[in-house]
Amino acid sequence: MMMAACPGLLLLLLFLPAWSAGAKLSFASYYADHMVLQKEPSQAVLWGYGKPGANIFVTLRQRRSQEHVMKKVTMVQDTTIWKVLLLAMHPGGPYTIEVQQSNKKKMSNVTLKDVYFGDVWLCSGQSNMEMTVSQIFNASEELAAASQYPLVRVFAPALVESETELEDLAGINLQWSIPTAKNLGHGDFTYFSAVCWLFGRYLYEKLRYPIGLIDSSWGGTPIEAWSSKRALAKCAVPPGDTKRFPVSDHNGGPKDYSVLWNAMIHPLLNMTLQGAIWYQGEQNTLMNTDLYNCTFPALIRDWRRTFHKGSGGQTPSDFPFGFVQLCTDRRAVTDDHFPRIRWHQTADYGYVPNEKMPNTFMAVTIDLGDHNSPYGSIHPRDKQTVAYRLHLGALAVAYGEKSMIFQGPYPQKVQVNVVEKYINVTYGERVHLHHLDNKIFEVCCSEQPPCKWSPVPIKSSSSSSVMLQNPVCPDAVDGLRYAWGDWPCEYKQCPIYNLHDLPGPPFITFARNNPGWTVS
Ligand SMILES: *[C@@H]1O[C@H](CO)[C@@H](O)[C@H](O)[C@H]1NC(C)=O
Ligand SMILES: *[C@@H]1O[C@H](CO)[C@@H](O)[C@H](O)[C@H]1NC(C)=O
Ligand SMILES: *[C@@H]1O[C@H](CO)[C@@H](O)[C@H](O)[C@H]1NC(C)=O
Ligand SMILES: *[C@@H]1O[C@H](CO)[C@@H](O)[C@H](O)[C@H]1NC(C)=O
Ligand SMILES: *[C@@H]1O[C@H](CO)[C@@H](O)[C@H](O)[C@H]1NC(C)=O
Repeated sequence: MMMAACPGLLLLLLFLPAWSAGAKLSFASYYADHMVLQKEPSQAVLWGYGKPGANIFVTLRQRRSQEHVMKKVTMVQDTTIWKVLLLAMHPGGPYTIEVQQSNKKKMSNVTLKDVYFGDVWLCSGQSNMEMTVSQIFNASEELAAASQYPLVRVFAPALVESETELEDLAGINLQWSIPTAKNLGHGDFTYFSAVCWLFGRYLYEKLRYPIGLIDSSWGGTPIEAWSSKRALAKCAVPPGDTKRFPVSDHNGGPKDYSVLWNAMIHPLLNMTLQGAIWYQGEQNTLMNTDLYNCTFPALIRDWRRTFHKGSGGQTPSDFPFGFVQLCTDRRAVTDDHFPRIRWHQTADYGYVPNEKMPNTFMAVTIDLGDHNSPYGSIHPRDKQTVAYRLHLGALAVAYGEKSMIFQGPYPQKVQVNVVEKYINVTYGERVHLHHLDNKIFEVCCSEQPPCKWSPVPIKSSSSSSVMLQNPVCPDAVDGLRYAWGDWPCEYKQCPIYNLHDLPGPPFITFARNNPGWTVS
């Protein structure tokens, strides 16, 4: 809209109905100095509390510029809450936002300073999202570099659970801040999230305009805690005796259904966002594992619908949603729960975006395991590569860089030659074969009785295919899977990458439902 270009003063006028209860003029908890508000084409939502019956004027001022006046009148239905949509703004700042209340000749005002317009990203999940910059590789260099990114602003709600949906945050751990070594490295698993920070930093380096980051994450929490009752009902999630669930990491947050949705997501719905990123799933290797292919897409759909509604239509109803596919863990008990969650994270497609998960992007991290992490192997320290891969997906999916390659190689064809005992796997792009692995591909000869998986070695590769030797199935091959284990390869040493060093994601496929499967 044309007004977006006006850097001056913006005036909005609201009337609060006289019958509501009294309240002091203030902003909602998460509006503060140094914040980033969502830029054009969306309009940022601003809300707060005021005296019933008062007029509220909102003025946006940019330093050193001619003042322009724009006026808008809105009747607020609610009682002590005022809420305005700012005009769509170009990226930049700083702005001062002043809210003035005039109530029976009594004037009061509150002000936000040093506010920028840019892209606001929400970061959520469990401990691998929560893990702070001070815990990762090269922590001291990364912390020292914080001061070079004064336009990437950070905010973290307090860790709170609630039985009911809260309208505003019950507490704040880190109010909107300019990043410093101190506030990014506050302490282990508190704030600020390394993946969130690095993701924002990579985006800033590319986009060169302000980025606002909200880190709303808590270790050891299942997806059910971050899901509304509505989303859980979509997947018929059985009521859980959540006290009995084991804890996936030493940082065990609440497991009760919907309690973090209620306290740490619902209050944010009224803020306009660009998108969200998510690093969660470890806890669901221990509970409701085979519902994750429903609960994860349901959470994404529910967050999209509710953020869209809460922002009065300003947060897009299909906003980009990025996530990290689970890394590795040395489990005392070896089972296949890690690969199952990885697969379910893609709604069992193996890659995203797909029909069930449109406008999503995924960072594959099976090759970023860290045996020696002082926080346990479930908390690998290379978060730089995680965030880098994730930001490639954001550029492609959220920022429309059509030529950006962000997915690793995925197979398109499986050709089985029973006579000559080999299997060719043809990928959709050129493949860089790191080494001739002899364990990571596995076949099952027959699905009846249930598959018995046996490793088959890679024999050779051509530009976009690999040839597997198949000495194990004499008559037929029914199933093929790749990287189907807790810890499928060592650090940056998976066999299959593309030419951009992106690893091929794990997959499992069967002859009966794969049209690209041929036998000769
Ligand atoms: C805002 O309030 C402060 C202190 O209450 C006052 O000094 C200032 O003049 C007010 N600003 C406006 C524009 O009313
Ligand atoms: C999820 O995976 C389980 C186990 O493989 C399967 O039984 C179920 O049908 C899948 N659900 C969906 C919605 O794909
Ligand atoms: C935020 O949006 C939700 C959903 O539209 C609504 O129920 C709630 O009242 C809004 N809160 C405020 C403070 O406007
Ligand atoms: C840590 O810094 C070294 C030296 O700059 C660099 O080679 C390495 O890739 C960095 N590690 C990570 C995980 O970024
Ligand atoms: C399998 O790949 C090899 C090497 O690229 C090739 O020579 C052979 O013809 C392929 N076989 C089939 C059945 O495509």
